[in-house]
Amino acid sequence: MMGLYVANLSFQPATRHHPADVAPRSMFPRPCRVHNRSGRMRCVAAAPSMVDSKTRPGEKKGFVEEMRFAAMRLHTRDQAPKQGQKEAPEQPAEQPLRQWQPTREGYLRFLVESKEVYNTLESIVTDAQHSDYARFQSTGLERSAALAEDIAWMQQEYALPATEPGDDGPGLAYSSLLRELAEKDPPAFLCHFYNIYFAHTAGGRMIGTKVAQMILDSKQLNFYKYDGDYKPMLDGVRQALNDVAEGWTREQKDHCLDETMMSFRYSNGLLQCIAQPQ
Ligand code: HEM
Repeated sequence: MMGLYVANLSFQPATRHHPADVAPRSMFPRPCRVHNRSGRMRCVAAAPSMVDSKTRPGEKKGFVEEMRFAAMRLHTRDQAPKQGQKEAPEQPAEQPLRQWQPTREGYLRFLVESKEVYNTLESIVTDAQHSDYARFQSTGLERSAALAEDIAWMQQEYALPATEPGDDGPGLAYSSLLRELAEKDPPAFLCHFYNIYFAHTAGGRMIGTKVAQMILDSKQLNFYKYDGDYKPMLDGVRQALNDVAEGWTREQKDHCLDETMMSFRYSNGLLQCIAQPQ
């Protein structure tokens, strides 16, 4: 079952594993470094019997391509006709965009709840509790400042009241998950980091355009604008993710890929504010 939604949009993901239940890094077989014939270091798994040898889709192009495959599979066919594999929508936000019924109040709520999530992501990489996270500072993809401007604009333009993230809303629920994972489970945290920022440049921008046509007189919000071309920014993050994942065992990589479903579940919780506002 996917995320469970109860009255007034309170957000309770149903089946989240607690990060403490996830094996800590030290429980995975450690890679050991050996020299190959050319004298270059290479990584081999310390316990090959625990690692299954099948090649993952995308593996040859680098770990981010594996993450992309994992994400594309979880799209519905309507969302991504070429690569989406999910037949039937399970959450309101998985319904085709043409069936969404956005309102300005709901969209403002989406921006406010999303800002909570981006604030959290951006403070986690600024604090860089794990040194790898410092690689993800100032990527150019940060969205908090743009969201603050859009929220102020929506309130003024449409005379909407100031809004805070709901105590039981999707923004705080996602933020607390991200904080826990960032501390205890870096591969899972980086799965969310990848999906949130990359999804926003793909489906996120499609949603922004469509919803703007429906309720904002086609005004393009700052949330969907970047300071220059965002593609080199994505390339930079791709490179950093690939580098960090080089230090992971196959089990840690698979664990990161397995987290993709949670990323969809929580992001769909945010999108529900637009798809089916209450
Ligand atoms: C209405 C919802 C959504 C729509 C319409 C949508 C649509 C798309 C489309 C059209 C692409 C590009 C496919 C291609 O490269 O050919 C894409 C890519 C992607 N989407 Fe979604 N998506 C949605 C929701 C999500 C969600 C909830 C997530 C995860 C949180 C997600 C994660 C991704 C990722 C990681 C990519 C790859 C981006 C890249 O490689 O640059 N999407 N999506």
